[in-house]
Amino acid sequence: MRLLIMGAPGAGKGTQATALAEHYGVPAISTGDIFRFNIKNETSLGLKVKAIIDAGEYVPDDVTEEIVAARLEEPDCEPGFLLDGFPRTMHQVHFLDRYLSERGQGLDAVVSLHVDPEALVQRLLKRAELEGRADDNADTIRRRMEVYAGQTAPLLFHYENKGSLVDVDGTGTVDEVRERMFAAVDAHVAS
Ligand code: C5P
Ligand code: MG
Repeated sequence: MRLLIMGAPGAGKGTQATALAEHYGVPAISTGDIFRFNIKNETSLGLKVKAIIDAGEYVPDDVTEEIVAARLEEPDCEPGFLLDGFPRTMHQVHFLDRYLSERGQGLDAVVSLHVDPEALVQRLLKRAELEGRADDNADTIRRRMEVYAGQTAPLLFHYENKGSLVDVDGTGTVDEVRERMFAAVDAHVAS
């Protein structure tokens, strides 16, 4: 099973990605988590991307694509994968399409989690208190929303045109969204 989960910052991608990946027995791969791990450990990658991420901007495509390609080569991706937070740009979409087609593979579903913009900001400010992420402050949140709307939201049309998109309402409790998402993805995959 090869899956993507997409949605605005604060839509609940990371939380639902973990559940969905477990549901299908594939690893959940979060590019944001990979970056944060490298920043925390002050690796050369971490030092390179810290200022970019703190500003709410996107890491250059070639850097992110190289990380994803290396991760997808790991043996745990043999049964498939769930990518959380990638692709974020059209360049990354084309990279992934090419990567998969070269291997005779494709995506089984692209989950799009929708949450009302007002609710997103509230969720992110709450997460800031709980997790202390450096990019969960009012200015950076605003910038991340702009970058998402400009560069990432349009990618949904690409997957919709391919017939891969599964729209899921991300409003409600974590359990409600999870059950709604499982039902929608199971139905899409079975069809
Ligand atoms: O996916 P997540 O919200 O955890 O990503 C956190 C940050 O990591 C993004 O706001 C962005 O700065 C960076 N990122 C990126 N390119 C990706 C994924 C994440 O630049 N494909
Ligand atoms: Mg995340």
